[in-house]
Amino acid sequence: MCGIIGYAGHRPAVPVVMEGLERLEYRGYDSAGVAWPAACGIGVARARGKLSALAEKLAAMPPVLATCAMGHTRWATHGEPAERNAHPHLCPDRSVAIVHNGIIENYQELRQDLLARGYAFQSETDTEVLVNLIAERRKTEPDILRALAVALREARGAYAICLLCEEEPGVLYAARQQAPLICGIGVGENFVASDIPAFLPWTRKVVFLEDGEIIRINATSREIFRISDLSPVGREPASIQWDMQAARKDGYRHFMLKEIFEQPRVINDGLAGRLNAAHDLPALPELDALPIPSRLDIVACGTSWHAGLWGRHLLENWAQIPVSVDIASEFRYRERLLLEKDGAAIFISQSGETADTLAALRRGHDAGIPTLGLCNVVGSSIAREARSVIFTQAGPEISVASTKAMTSQMLALALMAISWALRKGCMEQREAREQIAILRDLPSLLDDILPEMRVRAQELAVKYATCKNFFYLGRGFSWPLALEGALKLKELSYIHAEGYAAGEMKHGPIALIDPAFPTFAIAPDDALFAKLKSNIMEVRARNGKVIALTNPGVELDADDLWIVPKIPAPLSALAALPALQLFSYQMADYLGKDVDQPRNLAKSVTVE
Ligand code: F6R
Repeated sequence: MCGIIGYAGHRPAVPVVMEGLERLEYRGYDSAGVAWPAACGIGVARARGKLSALAEKLAAMPPVLATCAMGHTRWATHGEPAERNAHPHLCPDRSVAIVHNGIIENYQELRQDLLARGYAFQSETDTEVLVNLIAERRKTEPDILRALAVALREARGAYAICLLCEEEPGVLYAARQQAPLICGIGVGENFVASDIPAFLPWTRKVVFLEDGEIIRINATSREIFRISDLSPVGREPASIQWDMQAARKDGYRHFMLKEIFEQPRVINDGLAGRLNAAHDLPALPELDALPIPSRLDIVACGTSWHAGLWGRHLLENWAQIPVSVDIASEFRYRERLLLEKDGAAIFISQSGETADTLAALRRGHDAGIPTLGLCNVVGSSIAREARSVIFTQAGPEISVASTKAMTSQMLALALMAISWALRKGCMEQREAREQIAILRDLPSLLDDILPEMRVRAQELAVKYATCKNFFYLGRGFSWPLALEGALKLKELSYIHAEGYAAGEMKHGPIALIDPAFPTFAIAPDDALFAKLKSNIMEVRARNGKVIALTNPGVELDADDLWIVPKIPAPLSALAALPALQLFSYQMADYLGKDVDQPRNLAKSVTVE
């Protein structure tokens, strides 16, 4: 996830672009850069690190007077955070520059082809591949719009790009495919950007670009074309009513709500570049660097630990690898034999900075086992220190309570389990394809059901808002969800909640059940449904109220049924998780709590 902005107008463009980038910095801050039409060729400034580093660099240069420019703030996906990987990227003769948000999935094939044609690369990015491809296509198609369309038809993946060409100094081209891109229409000035806040101080009049479209802007005009055949597209502008603060949240009331609703995109992004050319089997080069482990330790904290508990089932069931899952603060002090022949350990952390997880990782190193980090933040300590890293690509998570990061971790674990299962020969390709198809269908299903889910969460939150305690019950794949549901409720609404493996209830906790102590049962229609149904009956027999999150067509006696579409287990968890998140969100909001920054918590726990 990165932020891009382009400006064509009447003011000095670089300060406008820098201001826009400041408001896009939440999308990434590993490096930043700007490009503008200069007296001869294209001027570029890039710097590693936060935007302030780029601002310092620009301040040391003679003022740039160009009235057209584009900029980028980066969240590294291909290539480490470094100046050579910062955008804009230029083609070899420096006649074309582009900034890019997204992933060009077939960049390796394209790069090989360009290398064979004599292109040299300055960076490890897929973006440089794209700008070189455009340069190559211009050899037969000198018109930049046509060359851009031809190149984009060859590129697979998700992208939003902005392009500046030396020969058309006041013009910008931008295009999108499964990544956001909006045009802002001002008076004598036009913008393109990844997000509305980038240009909101200057205009509220916008045109939303659709997938497969290119836009050409200058100071006074804009034209939209289809990438497929360059036919023109007519689109009426819309007017934005939000203020700046709301706009950073895309109009959502809280970052948490925005991040819950981002989960379909997170699944799409997590799959992009992680599937083979046919998009039906995983392709995880990061895993190929490791031998298939004979056993695994998964170590993490909080929500990331819950993702690990869920992942254990997949790694054991599909890849037949025995797995232990530990809380990092316990693991790091336990006297246990880590040095097992052919073992490996996975350290899951959204921030990559959690002190206990980092210490546990170092312990793994000391013991000499291969370590694999599952991190969201590129350049974080765990990402740097682990022997191998899989980035979960959820984009910056701003709300303190983790939501979309867990989905991205679960997705990565599912892809890992399928990869290892295929390599070991314990899963047939047919079954792997079925699971990948489920994952690929999930984003559109979630997009459809999330609004309705939120309405149901709101109804239930209001009904149960006076409760002081909650049980969350689940079995098998749903037990980690029960733990996560309880964690979300307590951290956001300060209501005491316990997550339990449903079969454990009668070993003590059931004594707490009374009409004021409700149970939230995660009861998907899977192999353990009948067992969970019995546990629900045991609760109801003791006058306990039950909310049951389940699937259509089941017979279940509960006070409140919450029906979500049936997806085969274990991936059904990816559709159940947002319901738990939304219930806690709505409860906290209804109770007037500080949803995005709950008391006593920090986003990144860098102390023990
Ligand atoms: C709960 C939450 C925490 C984190 C935990 C680990 O909503 O966010 O429980 O999951 O602090 O953080 P990371 O994943 O950054 O190591």
